[in-house]
Amino acid sequence: MMVNIEDTKLQLKIASEAVSESTDLIIEIKDLWRKFFEDTPAEVQALRGVNFRVEKGEFITIMGPSGSGKSTLLTILGCMASSSSGQVLIDGTEITKLSQRKLSEIRKNKIGFVFQDIFLIDTISALDNVLLPLLPYGIKKEDEERAKELMKTAGLDDRMHHKPTELSGGQKQRVAICRALINNPPIVLADEPTGNLDSQTGGEVLALLRKINKEKGITILAVSHDPKLAEFSSRDVMITDGEITRDRINPFRNNH
Ligand SMILES: Nc1ncnc2c1ncn2[C@@H]1O[C@H](COP(=O)(O)OP(=O)(O)O)[C@@H](O)[C@H]1O
Ligand SMILES: [Mg+2]
Repeated sequence: MMVNIEDTKLQLKIASEAVSESTDLIIEIKDLWRKFFEDTPAEVQALRGVNFRVEKGEFITIMGPSGSGKSTLLTILGCMASSSSGQVLIDGTEITKLSQRKLSEIRKNKIGFVFQDIFLIDTISALDNVLLPLLPYGIKKEDEERAKELMKTAGLDDRMHHKPTELSGGQKQRVAICRALINNPPIVLADEPTGNLDSQTGGEVLALLRKINKEKGITILAVSHDPKLAEFSSRDVMITDGEITRDRINPFRNNH
């Protein structure tokens, strides 16, 4: 695809000005680098000085070719991977130099993560899969009620007691989204959540993400190649070779 550099610069400027006027930032990334095999002939620069700010309540679609650094970015934001240099603020807390214990606290309180490979446990019910992140803390009656509420929102009322093997791909991914929401995180990160689904079941998953963004005000960053997603996201970002090469606010956001 041809990228017009002047257009790109203008779009970046417009998007960054729109966001920098806001004081309600939930994510702030400053000059973020991630290198693998640093200082060896095999060095890979997966992220090359990314600057990016996200306002509370945004729904951001991230696109870009395979190997461009999308997963690297999302896993750093999700406190699951380290960076080489730069800063990342999650709801005001700088995370790049935190201990593993502090990172897991941020992960628990701030982040819900949805993976392309859904990772459900096949031997327990869908409801128990949703409750799984709370297991180390002891599951209370109200947790179970909340899990059921979430599953209702996700259209899974009649699937709570089924095992994952008895669910469709789209239903499984919706269970995984409920699991990501069980801690009430203000941010959901989704890495190609529909990558393994056909377009119809993928559509169900996107509809659920859109619903939780709209109804609960949860900030969402989703990697997806689905043009349907870009249509109702509030902003779409392109990453190419470890850099943001497009950042567009969607003035035509389809909110219906
Ligand atoms: N754990 C790793 N070790 C070495 N190289 C990696 C690792 N993870 C990612 N990379 C490299 O970093 C680049 C970006 O990868 P990734 O973030 O997975 O891209 P995307 O999600 O956009 O496909 C690729 O060149 C990839 O090979
Ligand atoms: Mg990836």
